[in-house]
Amino acid sequence: MKPLIIANWKMNPSNSKDAFDLAKAVVRGLEGVKADVVLCPPFVYVAQLLPSSNVFIGAQDCFWVQEGAYTGEVSPQMLKNLGCSYVIFGHSERKKLGETTEMTAKKTQAALLASLVPVVCIGEHIEEEMKSILKGIAPKDVSQIIFVYEPEWAISTQPHARPATPKEAQAAFKKMCSLLPKTTSLLYGGSVNSKDIKGFIEAGAQGALVGAASLDAQEFIQLAKNSISR
Ligand code: 13P
Repeated sequence: MKPLIIANWKMNPSNSKDAFDLAKAVVRGLEGVKADVVLCPPFVYVAQLLPSSNVFIGAQDCFWVQEGAYTGEVSPQMLKNLGCSYVIFGHSERKKLGETTEMTAKKTQAALLASLVPVVCIGEHIEEEMKSILKGIAPKDVSQIIFVYEPEWAISTQPHARPATPKEAQAAFKKMCSLLPKTTSLLYGGSVNSKDIKGFIEAGAQGALVGAASLDAQEFIQLAKNSISR
C-alpha cells in the first residue's frame, strides 16, 4: 500500500502567492513518487489549489451541516464541490478553541455523507476519544476514516515538544487497532520530519500528518520520499 502523507499547513502562509508557490513546488517535486500526498491549506486557498494525479487537496476543518444559516461555517459539501478529498478533524489546536469530541464525531459523519475522507486526530485518551467518534459511524463506513495518533506534547510548536518514539507510536496503534477493522489506515503526527518518518512507518504507520515540515517544500518532498519502504 502507498504511504499517505498529509500536510497540515495550519494558518500558513500569509498570502495566496506563497500558498500557490509552495503547492506548485511540492507537486513538481513529487512527480513519479509513489506516495499519496494531501495538502491541507487554510480554507481561503482551497479553491486555488487544484488537485493533481498524486497530490490531493484537503481542508483543516468543516461544519457538520451541508447548507444553511450557520454564519462563518464551511460545509463538507462545499469542500467536495471544490475538489477537496480529505478533511482534518479533532486537532488538539481546535480542541483548545472549544471543539469537543461530540463535535468532532458529528463533523466526521457529515464529511462521510459528502464523500470526503475524514482524518481524525486522536490524543492521549485513545479509547475514550475513539469510542465517541465510532459510536455514530455505520460499521461499513469505519474503514473510510483515517485515524491519526497525534499526542499534543509531540506537536513542534508546544513548549518542550518531542516526537513520540516509534515504540510509543506502536503502543498507541495497538490500542487503536483493537477498536478498528483491519483495513483502517493509521497515521502518526507530531514533529515528523524527513529523518524520523521511517521509524514511524516501521512502527506500523501508513504515513504521517505533518505540520511545520510541510511548509518547507524540499523537506516535505524528502519526507514523502523517505516514507516509501524499499
Ligand atoms: P508538527 O509537525 O509541526 O509537530 O505539527 C503536527 C501537527 O499538528 C499536524 O497536525
